[in-house]
Amino acid sequence: MPGNMIDVHCHILPDIDDGPSDFEESLEMAKIASRDGVCKIIATPHINDNKYTIQDIIKRVDQLNRLLKENSIPVIVYPGAEVSIGLDPAIIPKYTLNHTNYTLIEFPHNHLPSFAGKILSWLISKGLKPIIAHPERNYSIIRSPDLLLKLLNKDIYVQITAGSLTGDFGVDIQYCADFLLDSGKIDMIASDAHSKKFRTPVLSEAAEVASTLVGREASQRLVSTNPAAILAGEEIH
Ligand SMILES: [Fe+2]
Repeated sequence: MPGNMIDVHCHILPDIDDGPSDFEESLEMAKIASRDGVCKIIATPHINDNKYTIQDIIKRVDQLNRLLKENSIPVIVYPGAEVSIGLDPAIIPKYTLNHTNYTLIEFPHNHLPSFAGKILSWLISKGLKPIIAHPERNYSIIRSPDLLLKLLNKDIYVQITAGSLTGDFGVDIQYCADFLLDSGKIDMIASDAHSKKFRTPVLSEAAEVASTLVGREASQRLVSTNPAAILAGEEIH
């Protein structure tokens, strides 16, 4: 039976970033996702410069969907991107998740840029809904989660990575993920998968961990209901 989970952050496209090496591996990743209960995936390659356009991403997504159909793998892939906060802000609105107003923003891992709040406010003023990718893996936020809490408002959303909750990145990151989840600031859990071997596209184990922390209903919202709202460009409640 196909699952109902939706992965909003996954490096499943080949030949564009540090994701899979070819479409063969993309298909293997989709099989892993499907077996885990994931039915839809937003492809979110890293965008750190102007090299790849959203059209380049859409082209690869179309090709992957054709291959998924040919191989009877019950997963649908949608176009998106993981955009570096260091990118020229004027370019960021070109890269949204499935043509909606949601945009996935990546901070550097080693610090929280002083201009982060300004950029997020500017994006909101342009009608975008920024989603902060995996803040629990940012060293400044790990040391002081308050830095993230101060940055947030009702127009900013937060995604944590499944592996952070299951301890794959160590105890500090796991503790930070638990704390943020517990504080009710997390809107979705995503895989941030990069390959078929390491950081694979699975969500079920993290969803189980989340249910023990915040309850089954809230956990379902994080891996299914809220991601569905993002795909449809609807409000997250
Ligand atoms: Fe990522």
